[in-house]
Amino acid sequence: MSLKDKIGAVRSNFRTAIESFPTDSIKLDELRIRFLGRKGEIAQLFNTMGSIPADERANAGKLLNELKIDLQSAFDSAIKNVDQNQRKKESDSVDYSLPGIELPIGSIHPIEQTLTEVKDIFKSIGFSIAYGPEIDDEYHNFEALNIPKHHPARDMQDTFFVEDNAVLRTHTSNVQIHLMENEEPPIRYIVPGRVYRNEAISYKSFCLFHQVEGLYVDKNVSFSELKGTLDYFARRMFGEDVKIRFRPSYFPFTEPSAEVDIWNSERNQWMEILGCGIVNPKVFKNVGYDSTIWHGYAFGMGIERIAMLKYKIQDIRHFYRNDIRFLEQF
Ligand code: DAH
Repeated sequence: MSLKDKIGAVRSNFRTAIESFPTDSIKLDELRIRFLGRKGEIAQLFNTMGSIPADERANAGKLLNELKIDLQSAFDSAIKNVDQNQRKKESDSVDYSLPGIELPIGSIHPIEQTLTEVKDIFKSIGFSIAYGPEIDDEYHNFEALNIPKHHPARDMQDTFFVEDNAVLRTHTSNVQIHLMENEEPPIRYIVPGRVYRNEAISYKSFCLFHQVEGLYVDKNVSFSELKGTLDYFARRMFGEDVKIRFRPSYFPFTEPSAEVDIWNSERNQWMEILGCGIVNPKVFKNVGYDSTIWHGYAFGMGIERIAMLKYKIQDIRHFYRNDIRFLEQF
């Protein structure tokens, strides 16, 4: 068989082969190896060059090169077709009307959001932030705050005892004492934190909740300043048209004392959010502040109550159920 015939045979074999499975890239690659590979049919024809008479060799080389280029380009376009078909198949199988995949993104707990807001408001008017112990002795939680032994707040039913003389604090007011024991006036702090009470659970009371305590001690601190500050706080927290009222009250550690209510338009009733007052000179005496020079005001607000009003939540227990349907809304 002449070289020309051999070339013709390779060409037609290649054509038959490539036309039989044009969509399969694995088979196409086998084909490439069989014809165009290092030991493929074309390479074998090149190997026979030595046995070709010298005067025909140049022409033979030219024919073989043409064969190689033709097959290579036929192969390249076949591969290209396969790729395009593949891509078309993939895009045909995409249903653009399907809803997207929703990635679960966490949210910040409403109590944490409310705490952050309260802190931001007080920071912007000159308060620093301090923290104190959640387990404390009876002296800091009660006695130093002028809550005597027989006071109902010290009753076993309100207080969780960890051991003798170690209680889960019933309010953040214990930190007032720690702050004043450790620092000289003037001081201006808020104290966020968890507090615990062993009391009847209801829509507005839970055994665990959060408070933010406030304490400002300086010369010439007045009740009207306290009232102005809390008014300002309420307007920033709930908006300019908030309905707020101060109600005379009693706390052993303040004199005079008041409670602040915010109108709950959902329930059509007032809701108490904080207690406050002018620091009782007896408390100053317990921490060694001279009450003839220094005056102070203090307040303690319930964060759950504030969050309930702000986000229109009807039951304090929602905050502690960890129900994702509730938490997702914030
Ligand atoms: N400690 C009080 C409570 O838990 C709240 C309170 C009232 C805090 C008056 C104060 C205050 O600092 O001056 O109910």
